[in-house]
Amino acid sequence: MKETIAIIGAGNMGTAFYKGVREHLNRVRINLCDKNMEKLTALDAEHIYTDPAKAVAEASVVLLAVKPQSAQALLAPLSPALKHHLIISIMAGISITTLEQWTGATAVVRAMPNLPAQVARGLTGWTASAGTDDKERAFVKELFLSVGQEIELENESMLDSLTPLSGSGPAYFFLLAELIAAKAIKEGFTEKQANLIARETLIGSALLLDEDPRGVRDMRIAVTSKAGVTEAALRSLNDAKFENIFAEAIDRAIARSRELNA
Ligand SMILES: NC(=O)c1ccc[n+]([C@@H]2O[C@H](COP(=O)([O-])OP(=O)(O)OC[C@H]3O[C@@H](n4cnc5c(N)ncnc54)[C@H](OP(=O)(O)O)[C@@H]3O)[C@@H](O)[C@H]2O)c1
Repeated sequence: MKETIAIIGAGNMGTAFYKGVREHLNRVRINLCDKNMEKLTALDAEHIYTDPAKAVAEASVVLLAVKPQSAQALLAPLSPALKHHLIISIMAGISITTLEQWTGATAVVRAMPNLPAQVARGLTGWTASAGTDDKERAFVKELFLSVGQEIELENESMLDSLTPLSGSGPAYFFLLAELIAAKAIKEGFTEKQANLIARETLIGSALLLDEDPRGVRDMRIAVTSKAGVTEAALRSLNDAKFENIFAEAIDRAIARSRELNA
């Protein structure tokens, strides 16, 4: 029989994983489950369920992609059937211990993907319970590679450090785009031009970074001519201690991530 993964929750993330698995792990059957039939039919999936119990019944792997606040109610009636499943949770803030209690399973993976998983350029950090064997870990790796890159973390607390970096990272990138566009408007560009300036500059730079073998620091140095325009801007950021401001912002987010753990 084909290996089966039940994906519970066909929202932003569940859909990204559904597409990744469908494209890259086509040996695996996907049981896609959501409360909303419209979300399922919109995806043109082969095996769709609105009842999670039916979705997990013949699966060996369960990917939990619902909001953390929906998890306990979802898992309470399912737990007797989940003991021997590999449980993979991408839910923020729910610990492996809690997941073990809620599911009764011993093979439990807690992961933090990020939004670029939707375009198969996600970065997922993950860590597994001691009861997760090598074969299961290899599957987890393949699953995350189907939506981008993955990093296996040494322990769960590294997830709290990773979340403000890669999980929240897209927001910093969008903020930079917003700031570039806002300044462009102040300088007299139209809104349309300002958006084009911000988007193309950042997207183009990301593509360059993707293609160039140099590290980010070397890339930054290479585009900063001595006594030039770029250097004037970077010096101003340096004088304002931008590096410290950014590091403090991440520290605050790490502390918030720790507070939200259940
Ligand atoms: N979005 C991100 O960038 C991101 C990044 C990393 C991790 N995560 C984590 O990924 C998880 C999913 O996030 P998301 O943004 O994909 O959420 P989402 O878009 O709200 O998707 C969750 C889906 O699951 C459905 N659902 C809720 N309870 C269900 C149940 N009992 N049975 C079947 N379906 C159920 C929801 O339906 P209703 O809307 O009707 O409730 C919704 O369609 C969250 O736990 C989040 O912490 C998200």
